[in-house]
Amino acid sequence: MKVKAAVFEGVGKPIQVEELDLQDPQEGEVLVRLAAAGVCHSDFHVVKGEWASDSGSLVLGHEGAGVVEKIGSGVTTVAVGDHVILSWVPYCGVCRYCQAGKPALCPKVEQTAYLNVQYDGTSRLSRDGEVVSSYLATGAFADHVVVHETGAVPIRKDAPLDRAALVGCAVATGVGAVINTADVRPGDSVLVIGCGGVGLSVIMGAKLVSAGQIIAVDMSDKALDLAKALGATAVINPSSTDVTVAVSELVGEAGLDWAFEAIGLKSTIEQAYELIAPGGTVVVVGQSADGVTIEIDPMVMSDREKSIIGCNYGSSRPAIDFPRLIDLYMAGKLDLDGLIGHTARLDEIGDAFERMRRGEGGRTVIRYDNA
Ligand SMILES: NC(=O)c1ccc[n+]([C@@H]2O[C@H](COP(=O)([O-])OP(=O)(O)OC[C@H]3O[C@@H](n4cnc5c(N)ncnc54)[C@H](O)[C@@H]3O)[C@@H](O)[C@H]2O)c1
Ligand SMILES: [Zn+2]
Ligand SMILES: [Zn+2]
Repeated sequence: MKVKAAVFEGVGKPIQVEELDLQDPQEGEVLVRLAAAGVCHSDFHVVKGEWASDSGSLVLGHEGAGVVEKIGSGVTTVAVGDHVILSWVPYCGVCRYCQAGKPALCPKVEQTAYLNVQYDGTSRLSRDGEVVSSYLATGAFADHVVVHETGAVPIRKDAPLDRAALVGCAVATGVGAVINTADVRPGDSVLVIGCGGVGLSVIMGAKLVSAGQIIAVDMSDKALDLAKALGATAVINPSSTDVTVAVSELVGEAGLDWAFEAIGLKSTIEQAYELIAPGGTVVVVGQSADGVTIEIDPMVMSDREKSIIGCNYGSSRPAIDFPRLIDLYMAGKLDLDGLIGHTARLDEIGDAFERMRRGEGGRTVIRYDNA
């Protein structure tokens, strides 16, 4: 079938919306008509060349939701007509990581999503017979996608699909960072550095588990306004305020229990490590450009028992966590509406990235005409 997709051809080249050919779903795969897709900085890292891509023509996007239109042979977990959230961790279900409830660490993710190919190592997209790849085996900047059945998670049908789309990356990652990766307890103090879609979701997660102070840091006042609306108890803009001084005044002697870094910069990860109290933990959620390394003092690590832990996809189990996050939204406990900064058409994708570059605040959501 013919689909409309935004195709990335290389750093510095405009992203054009074009008609591509999409093959039918093969064994274990499903065809999804997308209603909406969110724009994540993990797409933007590729656009900026911070993450090298050797996949040639590539349809970016990995945060989407829609309706299943067709299923391939052997599919058992998804049916035609199901409303689904795309997941960018297609997993095997039987390896030690899958069995331990950590599908984001499944080797299958590296063999499929991280190579921008499906389970059999190929892509379903092409243009005039030439292969076009789907980013993270998802490629959500297209009005239809074919994904593995473990990459399409059914949810209740009364949930709005443009909100549901956000669960597929920002919300799963940010809320999951708090409730799965970390173990934030009621009353704990939490610092969030970077308040884009991911950092704002960390703030929502911290509010959900009744954290004590929730301190948000961002260079953009618009992002900080959203942070306040979503549950931050204090906000700091480092362009006008010294973060170290402000945080220590806010937390006092009790110190800072948790710092979530949601940008991916060496400077802010190291700063987060400085700011946590003895016994505290930095959760690295932001992802850095190729080649970045951090420096921390191992003596402080052992002597002060300071920890630094990584977080991929909020340590989520998509099949369990996505429907739960949607239930929390529908029950009014998770403000997905407040996460949306802007809605756009697919052909406005270039503007969406420029909004992200300027730090305009909130997620941009692409709405498809066929929704
Ligand atoms: N760990 C995971 O599984 C996972 C999943 C999704 C995204 N990510 C990563 O999380 C990061 C954030 O993604 P996003 O979509 O929320 O990005 P975003 O661009 O929407 O938000 C980033 C925010 O950081 C702020 N910022 C930038 N530089 C700053 C600085 N020096 N000090 C303070 N604030 C600063 C910006 O103003 C912006 O509000 C990215 O690196 C992305 O790749 C990780
Ligand atoms: Zn596995
Ligand atoms: Zn993402």
